[in-house]
Amino acid sequence: MKYQHFIYVFVLVIASSLVYSCKKEKVPVEVVDPNCIDTVRFATQIEPMIVANCIGCHDIGNSTGYTFTNHTNISTNATAILSAINGSPQLMPLGGPALNDSLIQQFSCWLDQGKLNN
Ligand code: HEC
Repeated sequence: MKYQHFIYVFVLVIASSLVYSCKKEKVPVEVVDPNCIDTVRFATQIEPMIVANCIGCHDIGNSTGYTFTNHTNISTNATAILSAINGSPQLMPLGGPALNDSLIQQFSCWLDQGKLNN
């Protein structure tokens, strides 16, 4: 192999390893709700909303099968709660009226942000 050919091969190896490392560093695009600007707080926003609107029927020992008394059981049921406050399978709070849109949005953001215990 000529000395020049050796250089070509060398450059090719460097170039392809650069391309490969760039590919590896690509960060996946996160889908973030554009309405979730601020971090929702569990202690001052989510828990008080549940206490005011849901705990009457979903306290410890209730007969609905769903208890929402702390971060663990609220976050475990968060997807079902979001559906229910949007009316599916039935609107919660049962008998209505529905929560206002900003409270529903806030709960949705809290879920999106990872159901923080903050
Ligand atoms: C007046 C009583 C009452 C209130 C207030 C109430 N719930 Fe319920 N909830 C029920 C009953 C009863 C069931 C069980 C319904 C069934 O099994 O058909 C239920 C079931 C649910 C379920 C399970 C899904 C379903 O529809 O079966 C979720 C989730 C839920 N409630 C969330 C909430 C949330 C969140 C709130 C507050 C925003 C709330 N509930 C307020 C009575 C209530």
